[in-house]
Amino acid sequence: MLAEKSVRRIGVLTGGGDAPGLNAVIRAVVKSATTSKCEVIGLEDSFDGLIEGDRWRRLTPKDVTGILRIGGTILGTTNRGNPFAYPIETSGGTMDYSARCVEMFHQLKLDALVVIGGDGTLTIAHEFSKLGVPLVGVPKTIDNDIVETTNTFGFDTAVSFATDAIDRLHTTAEAHHRVIVVEVMGRYAGWIALYSGVAGGADVILIPEIPFDLEKVARRIRDRDHAGARFSIVVVAEGAKPVGGTHVVLQEAHGAFVERLGGVAARVAVDLEKLTGKETRSVVLGHLQRGGAPTSFDRVLATRFGARAVELLMEGTFDHMVAFHPPDIVAVPLEKIVGRARTVPPDFDVIRTARAMGISMGD
Ligand code: F6P
Repeated sequence: MLAEKSVRRIGVLTGGGDAPGLNAVIRAVVKSATTSKCEVIGLEDSFDGLIEGDRWRRLTPKDVTGILRIGGTILGTTNRGNPFAYPIETSGGTMDYSARCVEMFHQLKLDALVVIGGDGTLTIAHEFSKLGVPLVGVPKTIDNDIVETTNTFGFDTAVSFATDAIDRLHTTAEAHHRVIVVEVMGRYAGWIALYSGVAGGADVILIPEIPFDLEKVARRIRDRDHAGARFSIVVVAEGAKPVGGTHVVLQEAHGAFVERLGGVAARVAVDLEKLTGKETRSVVLGHLQRGGAPTSFDRVLATRFGARAVELLMEGTFDHMVAFHPPDIVAVPLEKIVGRARTVPPDFDVIRTARAMGISMGD
């Protein structure tokens, strides 16, 4: 779509769960927009900033100084603020606030938006595009499960943290001749488990894409014992499931809340202890994977995403998402990503590499 008028004032918001690198994108948007003589308005707590009148502020380069290396988001975020079906606490129902958002967009004299978020937020962005709001999306999630981009920012940081945790667990597992089961995030995709498991030298990696058989996992652990390696590290993705079974849910979906996964490591640990007779412990890395400073890879990716998003707005390319197609940052139509998730292909090279290293994938 071509710009009908030039973009002079950009709104930026962050939606969904936070991921290290959000601030790096905000900083890149502000700096590159300023270079292009554009103003930037920061909208608070995702689209809430377009629903409530006083939830925005001007962002200048001074406001984003020093945030490149800081986790979280200076704008705040929420993962239950869909303006098309906004949760109303008093009634338990939902309201459609989309028209109000469009009105507020014009009241704030915005020409375009940069929407930084995961699949949910980007789907909402696409709906606003259809209502005539010029915007560009930036893919974020530690899960790395957005289609049409080989990487989302936040993923590398989560993997680095999980790898460090696995390194630490190795020494204590080895000292006590124990099995330790480490649960990592990722929702229905096994990217974090696979990469941290390979990087950390795990003995078993269980991912949602390959249903596991604990008898086979136990056999792998016993084989290691017989070979003199009297400890084992099992990395399990929160969405992993046994053959013929389903993933472990911590809390069912309700209202605007999506289903919360968690608890698979504890179950796997109990069963493995019975099957192997070895003392087994479990640990859940949880939100530690989302905190802290972004890695240099994520800082560079986030900065490139932010700068490219502004470039796209300047050239009048809207309703697109910036994406990493190594070595380039490209633009992908938002409609191509809606309703799709990027899971690990079972014949993926890193899975074959893991198997070649003798890592059990649970099958
Ligand atoms: O999508 C990112 C993610 O961290 C998932 O890996 C995890 O399942 C989920 O968010 C946790 O969400 P919340 O912070 O709402 O509990």
